[in-house]
Amino acid sequence: MSIEETIKQLPKIEQHVHIVGSVRPETLLWLNKQGEIKLPYKTLDDLKDFYAYQGFEHFLNVYSMVNELITHEKYYEIITYEMLQNQHNCNVKHVECIFSAYDHMHRGLDFSDMVEYINKGISRAKRDFGITCNIRVDVVRNYGPEIALMLLDEIKTNGNNIVSIDTGGIEEGVLPRTYAKVYEAAREQGLRLTAHQGEAAGANYVWECIEQLKPERIGHGVSAAQDPNLLSKLTRRGISIETCPMSNLRTGAVKSLKDHPIRRFMEAGVKVSINTDDPPMFGTDMNTEYLMLHRELGFTAEELYNIGLDSIETSFIDEQAVSYTHLTLPTN
Ligand code: ADE
Ligand code: ZN
Repeated sequence: MSIEETIKQLPKIEQHVHIVGSVRPETLLWLNKQGEIKLPYKTLDDLKDFYAYQGFEHFLNVYSMVNELITHEKYYEIITYEMLQNQHNCNVKHVECIFSAYDHMHRGLDFSDMVEYINKGISRAKRDFGITCNIRVDVVRNYGPEIALMLLDEIKTNGNNIVSIDTGGIEEGVLPRTYAKVYEAAREQGLRLTAHQGEAAGANYVWECIEQLKPERIGHGVSAAQDPNLLSKLTRRGISIETCPMSNLRTGAVKSLKDHPIRRFMEAGVKVSINTDDPPMFGTDMNTEYLMLHRELGFTAEELYNIGLDSIETSFIDEQAVSYTHLTLPTN
């Protein structure tokens, strides 16, 4: 069997994917035609320009333009289902998807309705593909800690299938300590904790994050690789890193995939997962992530398979919920 075929057949776990960042290009064009036309793009070819970024902040601006196309809660069912269908096509067995509720609430959409539609999409995908999915709410840093506390209250009453919180959005300039109270309250509420960190800011942000927010996982973590003491600390505390290699390449967090620190994390004893972040926006999917890690960093099928096993361990699910019987290394 070719390595491409083996990679397709490997069972996979996705711990870090944004629902809105997963909108299919075709669906994006369709959404753009519902109601008021917001974007000057009509064809898939036009979207090539839209998906090219000058850097991380430019990417976030483009991402917020996609948010504007979600003008009704009901669209969440479609985009969640399609996101899971895409994941299933790469043999992903379990997904932890990121929902940035306030990106839509500040335009008048309702939290509980959105959660209900997301769960409808998840249930249909479970029925059609056998894939499991839970939700993490990103209390996007652009909006500040008061909004985050409001979102925790929403989760208390309308939190069906929401298992964790996360801080994404802008990084540089928002010190992690700003969210210390939010994370403490979330922990008391029984939520699991993760944070986008070390993607667009230095290792000092990751240090402060682990001290002040005490997350179980770090999203991206790229800059942590610059500090061996920090890597040892992550290992000792059992904090894993949700790596997003193609995302880091496309936003400029790494210059080339060969520079990506995933191997340095592993050599230091940090557990990692492999993730797509915003797949069509970064021209990726799980098979592509695996293939690029094989081509550019020499990962073997067995190494990739073992990362999948570690990812089950560091996921926010009951391990029994993911069927281990599927999770065997395909042989020739
Ligand atoms: N929102 C969507 N993708 C993101 C990323 N890579 N970093 C921070 N916030 C995001
Ligand atoms: Zn992300």
